[in-house]
Amino acid sequence: MTGFELLFRDGYARIGRLPTPHGNIETPALLPVLHPDQERQAIPASELAAGFGVKAAISSAYILWRQPELRARAEAEGLHRLLGFDGPLMTDSGAFQQHAYGHVEVGPEEILEFQNRIGSDIATVLDIFVESTAAPEEAQRGVEETIARSKVARGARPGLLAVPVQGGAYPELRYRSAHAASEVGDVLAIGGVVPLLEQYRFAELAVQLLAARPALAPERPVHLFGAGHPVLFAFAALFGVDLFDSSSYHKFARRDAVMFPEGTVPLDSIRESICDCRACREVPLPELRGRPVAEREHQLARHNLAACVSEVARVRQAIRDGALWELAEQRAAGHPALFAGLRVAVRGARWFATVEPESRDQFRWCSPLSGLRPGVIRFLARLGVWKQGRGPYRYHPRVRLTPGALRTVPSHASTGEPIAWETATPIGPVPLELLELYPVGNWMGPEQYEPAPPRSAPDPAEVDPAETEAQRLERWTQRHVAGVLTWCYGATLAEQLMEPGLGVVRSARSGRLRRLERDGVPWFTVRNDGLPQPTWAAAREIHRLLPTPRGRVGVLADAAPFVESGRTLFSSFGRPLDPSLLPGSVALLVDPEDRLLAVGRLLLSPSEIGRFQRGVAATILSHARAPPPTLEEEAPELFPLPPDPPAP
Ligand code: GUN
Ligand code: ZN
Repeated sequence: MTGFELLFRDGYARIGRLPTPHGNIETPALLPVLHPDQERQAIPASELAAGFGVKAAISSAYILWRQPELRARAEAEGLHRLLGFDGPLMTDSGAFQQHAYGHVEVGPEEILEFQNRIGSDIATVLDIFVESTAAPEEAQRGVEETIARSKVARGARPGLLAVPVQGGAYPELRYRSAHAASEVGDVLAIGGVVPLLEQYRFAELAVQLLAARPALAPERPVHLFGAGHPVLFAFAALFGVDLFDSSSYHKFARRDAVMFPEGTVPLDSIRESICDCRACREVPLPELRGRPVAEREHQLARHNLAACVSEVARVRQAIRDGALWELAEQRAAGHPALFAGLRVAVRGARWFATVEPESRDQFRWCSPLSGLRPGVIRFLARLGVWKQGRGPYRYHPRVRLTPGALRTVPSHASTGEPIAWETATPIGPVPLELLELYPVGNWMGPEQYEPAPPRSAPDPAEVDPAETEAQRLERWTQRHVAGVLTWCYGATLAEQLMEPGLGVVRSARSGRLRRLERDGVPWFTVRNDGLPQPTWAAAREIHRLLPTPRGRVGVLADAAPFVESGRTLFSSFGRPLDPSLLPGSVALLVDPEDRLLAVGRLLLSPSEIGRFQRGVAATILSHARAPPPTLEEEAPELFPLPPDPPAP
């Protein structure tokens, strides 16, 4: 069983941990290809680990098997000794060679048995490589054969099994193949895309990745065969690709092609020392031109690998920061083909809907696609629902979303019910009540750095002279809080939570909502993303008023006592109840009788809870019962106090 665990995430992209017999693979990870023949390996395996921090690699079982001498040694010594690498090793099956040469002399059973015998940590099914040019019937045959072989392979493979996903250019076939792979595979490996990668057909790649995505089991790592260029990693990670592999670092080196996260540059054109990776510190790129072929190839392979490894690290950091869209857009600026691929991704916003986090720390504008990110599309869709039954909103051009726009109470916003105001934001008019929410609340875009038109005083016609400033402020505040609570819980519950006695605390500096109280008791704290987080008292009230299953995640009876006393909810003990919750949502954690145990913040989406066998589903924010007393608290007589120190 795959023990894959999700640790951090940004949408589909995740920092995860895949245990193997030779240690964990921390994803996203690049598995560089290790050539089975040491003579043809550009960088010695020992240097991969020690010099580049490579923790896992991939090799070709087929190439090993094909050469009698290597085959015998692999069977005698095992794969790890043969390759001189003691971390996790995946092996590929020969499907790519079958495709390239038209045939392989080995059958699917035999090559799988061979992978078992030599101690591969992740063995791969011998699939049928389906070209993107394949006719529908041919593609269908390839997919069916791959599925049949995968089922047989599962029965013959005790360890981790990578099951390829084929389907050529046909989204329905990709979906079917991904679905079938998810039933038997530990690693789901998207295949048949090398021609798309080589020809920069990233828009077509995006179509296929999106087609497969909903059918890929979320609790399994996803591999992308042949993806080994740093331009691609952020892009592929957006679709939830966890593992990359490639011999590109060496192949590119052989033709004097220098890899960068922004694209490929011919060595000949490099006249400046533009890189200071470990290879380029030894021999700067401009000097490499004059060196002998073998040295050039070796040094460039090392540079290329360093570029790949450091870009994967960037991707990992971006996932932790919730900034992967930013990174993907920055990379897409490097090549229009990648931009075209990203355009497919934003058009598929609804594919991202279930894993798109509730909010992020920051929204940083990076490209013309920024305003179309799934987080924006979702906000606008939800806004449409929120506005229903709220009377017309009148556009008010005077409030612009500039730094400090929220520092002052928009006095003109409080005028004459039922008129309400909305104002220009970079994603269109947004009601003033919602200006603190992601993505508008923490939007960082060029418009903020352009001179703003002068703000005029409120139109006298809008101001009711009988109303004092304090009354206006109070009315605006009520409206503001009701708007935000409705955004979170719907109108009915918001109204109930707004009962008399609600006190509102704003930040003195920024004017933003900070805290809601009821009769002086803390009720909600408002986070930096503008979303109110209920205290335990408020959560109990929400639980009472909000009909099941809304807002809830189930906790199995076995785990209830732990969660109730504040222990993390692990995925295997959780069950989804409300499918509309999102990663990052605050959820009511309830036992099978709907008793409220705790309030948690979700790491997993409901569709993932219970499916991951390992790892956290939700961290706990507040809980029903204090943790059980420690022995020291229960029996203080067993822990005598040390004697008082002597008086000075
Ligand atoms: N390497 C590159 N593409 C593929 C593929 O589609 N299947 C397998 N098994 N290996 C590959
Ligand atoms: Zn370099």
